[in-house]
Amino acid sequence: MTLRPSGLVFIARADEDLLSAAARSGIAVPSACRNGVCELCEATLLVGPALNTRSQQTVSETGRLVLCRTLALGPLELEIGSVMAAGENTARKFQANVVDVRPISHDVFRVELQLPRRRELSFHAGQYLSIILPDTDPCYFSVASSPLEQNLELHIQASPDWVSAQKVIDAIKSGSSITLDMPHGGACLAAAPVKPLVMVAAGTGFAQMKSMVDYLQTTDYRQPVKLFWGVRRHEDMYLRSLAQQWHEQWPPFTFLPVVGDNEDNDWSGHHDQLVRAVLATGQDWSHVQVMASGSPVMVYTLMDALLAAGLPEDAFFSDVLEYAPRK
Ligand code: FES
Repeated sequence: MTLRPSGLVFIARADEDLLSAAARSGIAVPSACRNGVCELCEATLLVGPALNTRSQQTVSETGRLVLCRTLALGPLELEIGSVMAAGENTARKFQANVVDVRPISHDVFRVELQLPRRRELSFHAGQYLSIILPDTDPCYFSVASSPLEQNLELHIQASPDWVSAQKVIDAIKSGSSITLDMPHGGACLAAAPVKPLVMVAAGTGFAQMKSMVDYLQTTDYRQPVKLFWGVRRHEDMYLRSLAQQWHEQWPPFTFLPVVGDNEDNDWSGHHDQLVRAVLATGQDWSHVQVMASGSPVMVYTLMDALLAAGLPEDAFFSDVLEYAPRK
């Protein structure tokens, strides 16, 4: 299959819809319903034979189709904008409407945004965005929802002493529209990985993992997925019930919560504790992929420990490596 004007190419199996086939090749296509309803994955057939799986009719050349409801009956050329290959991030600005903002813990807000130009946005699970406010440096947040969802979900920690995040929450609460710049970040899943996954998140680093777990549950990925989620205090584990639900309902998934010292709120050893908990599993580190999200201290402590334990260097992924490179 060849996509125009991008020139991206992928292989589709005879029994596989074109949206799934593109995703398997790491090509992000705007999509949500995967059922022919939202029309986000609409394209024009330029050349080749294709079948609409809903009507069971062939699609005429120059006809419109939706990738999620189309099978290829031979090589195709399709015209579709806003597709993105793995590692090919071209961030752009979007206006987003605030659909919902509400606290989900003592200092974390869940924010839901809707993009009028959603058809122009593709991104990979685990990527992040920045929120642009006047007279303020951009603030970066992981997208907590899967790219296959229509709206964007964010988890924003905004304690009163964290001025920039508090400004973002104030702007979101008071305005009906905000400016985003996205997508960013190479520590993401363009397609289901070939190895088992170990995810390690501290605090709201959980948001990035949620995007990837939501995405993986829509693929045929069946390798083990372990999520270690470290927090300082029990009340900081703001979506524990969701992670527990994945554990109970998605067979490949194991949830491993790591909670710090509840008696000492200023205790700073919780990063070491999280890293120790990850190492204590006695995992064979030579054949897994690790995704990590948290502070640079936590991420580099974890990376050093895992590389020493046998993890190949190219199997460790974290946005920290990009935005806070070690000198
Ligand atoms: S029509 Fe909604 S994802 Fe294809």
